[in-house]
Amino acid sequence: MKNLLVNQHAKSVSAVILGSGQALQNVKLLSTTKAQHGYLTRKTCTVLRLKVSSPKCKSFILIGSKYASTVKQMLVTNKDLMVPARRGGYGIGAFNVNNLEVVLAVAEAATEEKSPAIVAVTPSAIKYGGLPYLSKIVRTAAELASVPLSLHLDHGEDFETASKCVDAGFTSVMIDGSHLKFEDNVVLTKRVVSVAHSKGVSVEAELGRLAGVEESTVEEKDAILTDPDVAGEFVERTGVDALAVAIGTSHGAYKFKADPKLDFERLRLISKKVSLPLVLHGASSVPAWIIEKAAKYGAQLGGARGIPEEHIQKAIAMGIAKINIDTDLRLAFTAAVREVLANSPKEFDPRKILGPAKEAMKKVVRSKMQLFGSSGKAA
Ligand code: G3H
Ligand code: 13P
Ligand code: ZN
Repeated sequence: MKNLLVNQHAKSVSAVILGSGQALQNVKLLSTTKAQHGYLTRKTCTVLRLKVSSPKCKSFILIGSKYASTVKQMLVTNKDLMVPARRGGYGIGAFNVNNLEVVLAVAEAATEEKSPAIVAVTPSAIKYGGLPYLSKIVRTAAELASVPLSLHLDHGEDFETASKCVDAGFTSVMIDGSHLKFEDNVVLTKRVVSVAHSKGVSVEAELGRLAGVEESTVEEKDAILTDPDVAGEFVERTGVDALAVAIGTSHGAYKFKADPKLDFERLRLISKKVSLPLVLHGASSVPAWIIEKAAKYGAQLGGARGIPEEHIQKAIAMGIAKINIDTDLRLAFTAAVREVLANSPKEFDPRKILGPAKEAMKKVVRSKMQLFGSSGKAA
């Protein structure tokens, strides 16, 4: 059985498998959603989610409707993935990618775990890999994978970047106005929501600043972290689909000097006011085994510290539905590359160096999916 996303307006369809002429049995309509159909038409249209029993073939022709067309597995939106996650009490991993190896690691892990996944691209990843390359690699991954993937702009810094990504076929964008004054954040976010929603693209925004707050006073924390009282007003006024919250996490490998601490009481209050999916940035755990492996082969990462896995599970139980992971992938990549280069000094085939790095990232992604509870949700 697989889920297919189809650019069809018909309520019932029948289908034949290309090449075999064998009629599909048990084509069941699961749901219809409005979505951007970037691949064929670049227009917003109704997407039917079908469950079909089929052999390996990935390409279908729908018949019995004037909208008949070749069907490919398409990117889904973040909203498609996050709403059931918040409702079901599990989390969807958003994994940052910037090259082919990271995309392969995420897509293969998702397929093996039967898990949905969000593939996230930052403006600096776009600068590195190029928008057309990254969006097409991820789109290809979504077409070939048997699980739902979305393509998300992470930390979109301005309206122009967000709308370029919408035009390039992203199915979700984050507009990060967290550094702005509240009213300016509202205005910018609303502007992005209006363009993105008109194309069926979902929007994430952020309130509060990501920063370690270990030694901060209550007043200092209040000035930095998400204010539960304004969170409700913000989502209502902007119409966003998800809200990133600041509860004491931060980006990178050095999140805490002493014991990790998150403001769970704040999260509880935000969760009461906002029923939308909540997003946790800076959620890498900086696993000891990766740091040890990297250090064994020469890395200098003393003092690296992340979010304990139990904290992540607690946050999911309190309404976090999307968990952002970049650092742990970078660490796994680096440790694996160091190991190969140290153990095989004569090696100079990039595939022999980057292949193990991809496998190491895949192991991390699979363990995140198990931790977040998304494994098996795309079965
Ligand atoms: O916020 C996400 C990242 O970990 C920072 O990514 O170096 O691609 O901007 P970047
Ligand atoms: P980490 O640095 O903890 O992996 O966070 C990544 C992130 O928030 C990307 O948006
Ligand atoms: Zn982030």
